[in-house]
Amino acid sequence: MATRVLGIAGSPRRRGNTEQLLDRFLAGAASGGAEVDKIVVARLTLGGCRACDGCWDDGQCVIQDDFQEVNRRIVAADVLVLAAPLYFWGLPAQVKALVDRGQCQWARKFILHRPLAATASGRQRRQGVFISVGGEPRPWFDGALKTVRGFFGVYETDYRLGLLYGGLDARGAVADHPTALSEAFAAGVQASGW
Ligand SMILES: Cc1cc2nc3c(=O)[nH]c(=O)nc-3n(C[C@H](O)[C@H](O)[C@H](O)COP(=O)(O)O)c2cc1C
Repeated sequence: MATRVLGIAGSPRRRGNTEQLLDRFLAGAASGGAEVDKIVVARLTLGGCRACDGCWDDGQCVIQDDFQEVNRRIVAADVLVLAAPLYFWGLPAQVKALVDRGQCQWARKFILHRPLAATASGRQRRQGVFISVGGEPRPWFDGALKTVRGFFGVYETDYRLGLLYGGLDARGAVADHPTALSEAFAAGVQASGW
């Protein structure tokens, strides 16, 4: 069965640097034979976690919005590719809301001690890729990386690869980067074989 790769475009700026990198990654994955899926967070309605602890009963989030469908697609995927720029050394609020909704998976894992369902191709663990950029020449990715590793962790996803670039600020600046887009494509090809 083909590797299922899910890209999550987490920037509020459509067709910006991280989304272009994600699209190259997904194109590479598709060219390698992966089944590719993409979610654009900016198009979704995703409220923030309210810390109601409703998920402590059954591991399900009580807030009914686009999260349930996103959650289903994350669980089905073999490779999760989260693409989001640095905002104040962390993730943009819109995608951070998605990360925080992962609290229901935290409750499943640490409160209820229930296994996560296998991926659509029957794997117990997923592989994770973080694509990020910052406008600063040498940005600090450590804050965002901690958050992403935590998010991957509750979805039983091993952090496999980071494609992290500095000095990219204007929309589309990535097109002038000497290697970033081709590196993203090559990484996608690789991921199709994970
Ligand atoms: C609210 C806001 C906060 C930002 N914070 C940072 C930051 O902490 N470090 C950094 O290097 N760049 C920062 N940037 C710049 C973005 O990371 C940069 O413009 C990036 O290319 C946006 O990616 P996108 O085109 O995928 O949206 C910030 C931009 C905005 C709008």
